Amino acid sequence: MPLLLLPLRLLRVLFGTRSGEHLQRERVPDLKLAQQKFSKDPVANLKRKWRPVLFCSQPRTRGLNYGSLEIMSSRVIEQRDQSVLRNSIELIVGNTPLIRLRRITSELSPGVEVFVKAEHLNPGGSVKDRPALAMILAGERAGTLRPGMTILDATSGNTGIAYAMIGAARGYPVTLCLPGNAGRPRKRILHSYGVTVIETDPLQSTDGAQVIARAMFNKEPDKYFYPDQYNNDANWRAHYESTAPEIWEQSEGRITHFIAGLGTSGTFVGVVRRLKEFNPKIQAISMQPDSPMHGLEGLKHMGTAMVPGIYDPTLADGNVEVSTDDAQQMTRRLAEEEGLLVGTSSGANVFAALRMARTLTRTAVVVTVLCDRGEKYLE
Ligand SMILES: Cc1ncc(COP(=O)(O)O)c(C=O)c1O
Repeated sequence: MPLLLLPLRLLRVLFGTRSGEHLQRERVPDLKLAQQKFSKDPVANLKRKWRPVLFCSQPRTRGLNYGSLEIMSSRVIEQRDQSVLRNSIELIVGNTPLIRLRRITSELSPGVEVFVKAEHLNPGGSVKDRPALAMILAGERAGTLRPGMTILDATSGNTGIAYAMIGAARGYPVTLCLPGNAGRPRKRILHSYGVTVIETDPLQSTDGAQVIARAMFNKEPDKYFYPDQYNNDANWRAHYESTAPEIWEQSEGRITHFIAGLGTSGTFVGVVRRLKEFNPKIQAISMQPDSPMHGLEGLKHMGTAMVPGIYDPTLADGNVEVSTDDAQQMTRRLAEEEGLLVGTSSGANVFAALRMARTLTRTAVVVTVLCDRGEKYLE
């Protein structure tokens, strides 16, 4: 290492992030170069433990700072935020395990593996911790979320729990518009965080909740920070920057198929956009409930629902539907046969993944998502 660079390296070690201190780092001038370098031979890079890290070399932009890419730590949080947030609950969002399903996959062809990204192990209990944190940090950075303001959004529950957890930790009150038929355990969790819950028409599901939240924001724009998760790019970008690179690394670049259900669509859109950059041959399959009246909390029937602004249907190589019954049965099997107590949208994801995996005869690595913990559904 040239002598002149030594003091710089020393500074980084002294003031680097907790998670980054043990990493081998390389300075790269911009994100594009980092991506090119990483995706040229990603598997070899992984084996060499090569990690591209950018040291905020680009000016801050609206939303997440895309110049800050910290692989191996909570990627939702940019580097400067990581030092501000040291020892806080926000830092344990993300970096969830990728678990191989071993028992319910026994009938698959040899060489076909199914993995689940265990998002239920996030501190708020769901995949929504990542986008909620990203949207809040983006709001603070853009100045649309300031001390004294209240976080307001429509949610089927999980994003609300994530806002509640992060809002409490960062000192913001939270008001949520939630369909009245959301489960009682979910409402109890929200009340425990001290959240104000406005129950909206159950028949209009989260579409109705969205209309109410927007009206409240329009009436008092100075009082509320309204992330509007259905139309906020920081939602899908959280998955683009964190969930997808984690899956890519954890599968050692072997992933061949990715399947996920559509709610706001943030998970599917963000993960698929990034995975296709790593390897355009990866097949992306979106899943949704098979009818407008379904019991799959968190998922939307796109044909009849208000379509989220961030949804991009062109990303999918295939679209599948799952019934509530099939999802519930698979949810039970995941608990009884794999030791994974998760919610019904996770059951739907795994049902769709297994149905597809059964059609595969060659070596394949199928990845789907466990969206949230099952305790919330025990009434
Ligand atoms: C339980 C559950 N599953 C799946 C999803 C869908 O995730 P996304 O909004 O990223 O499409 C959600 C979203 O709220 C959810 O709460």
